[in-house]
Amino acid sequence: FAAVDVIRAKRDGRNLTPEQIDWVIDAYTRGVVSEEQMAALAMAVYLRGMDTAETARWTGAMIDSGERLALHVSRPTVDKHSTGGVGDKITLPLAPLVATCGAAVPQLSGRGLGHTGGTLDKLESIPGWRAQLSAHAIGKQLEDIGAVVCAATDTLAPADRKLYALRDVTATVESVPLIASSIMSKKIAEGAGGLVLDVKVGSGAFMASLDEARVLAKTLVDIGTAHGLPTRALLTDMSTPLGAAVGNAVEVAEAVDVLRGDGPDDVVALTLALAREMLALAGHGDVDPGPVLASGEAYETWCRMISAQGGDPEAPLPQPEHVHVVEAPESGVLTTLDARAVGLAAWRLGAGRVRKEDPVQAAAGVRCLAKPGERVEAGRPLLELHTDTPDAVPAALAVLEGGIEVSDAAPESPPWPSTTVL
Ligand code: URA
Repeated sequence: FAAVDVIRAKRDGRNLTPEQIDWVIDAYTRGVVSEEQMAALAMAVYLRGMDTAETARWTGAMIDSGERLALHVSRPTVDKHSTGGVGDKITLPLAPLVATCGAAVPQLSGRGLGHTGGTLDKLESIPGWRAQLSAHAIGKQLEDIGAVVCAATDTLAPADRKLYALRDVTATVESVPLIASSIMSKKIAEGAGGLVLDVKVGSGAFMASLDEARVLAKTLVDIGTAHGLPTRALLTDMSTPLGAAVGNAVEVAEAVDVLRGDGPDDVVALTLALAREMLALAGHGDVDPGPVLASGEAYETWCRMISAQGGDPEAPLPQPEHVHVVEAPESGVLTTLDARAVGLAAWRLGAGRVRKEDPVQAAAGVRCLAKPGERVEAGRPLLELHTDTPDAVPAALAVLEGGIEVSDAAPESPPWPSTTVL
């Protein structure tokens, strides 16, 4: 094969053959196909698309660029993936909850980039907690405790790591076949027996419209099916942040509230909806996760999961050096609290990073003190901005401009996630 022929085929709108796909992904991983050639191919795919068979094959080639994690666990394994949102700390209560209900959850997670947070960044605000585990330690923790949330190992879909970095700088991230194959290559290589996808819809998500999110969800499920992985997708609202906390330590604190049988209604509802789907895939559809969460049993599992990775679950979480309060501009109904604006504000306050190698502030973030649909009086605190670098507050206030609306009108979106099972 020659890379130019593969690029030309896709440029001209033809389907790539399975052999072309296998060759180009392998050759790119080995450095035989250059970055500029892969950039051209990624752009051709972005513009021309790939059909289901091509996308499934592309995913398989990315899986084969590395090793599959061999999980030897006596319980059924099941995982969840969210396409990314603002205040989306669901993994934190969900993994120990599903483990407490009898399945095992291997959750290999990432760090945040841009306005959406990363699960590992959140957990690292817990004193002593380590993200990096060996494959052996992952297996042992899964067997002993039933839940592990940690960094992906270097050998998991290395082609995706290389390609994602290239897409990031060539305006080729927002392509359904490229997003779907990227997500599914890592999840299939992880080796869980079932997968539940939380596909986010709204301003804070990759996919702003329901139609786009449906296409992404269907593509993800089709890839799972083509690879023999039982996969289900939920479409859930990301027009406003999930829960009240957006950031790192603040989200851990909220997750702990949920695990103690408390916490915001929307976070509890989504945690339970995803837990039900996961348990059904794991053959434990008869277990109701609701009473288990309310009883605090899942909190015990959380403590064991955190301790196993060096963390102290009882240690006080980092507190911000500076808190700035944003008040309601007038009296009325809070009609908009825009997920993207709040996510960007948390990012500017130090909760997120600009470049991959940047550190994040554990205590930075936003606490939302009202939900869309709620009545607020002028001057009432709406948001708390948390940061260790008060110089960042004006930039955070600037991105919130237009993201908060108080009026006499009814809210545009439902106050809680509207959950659709695909
Ligand atoms: N998440 C991924 O893992 N890959 C993408 O391409 C987009 C989101």
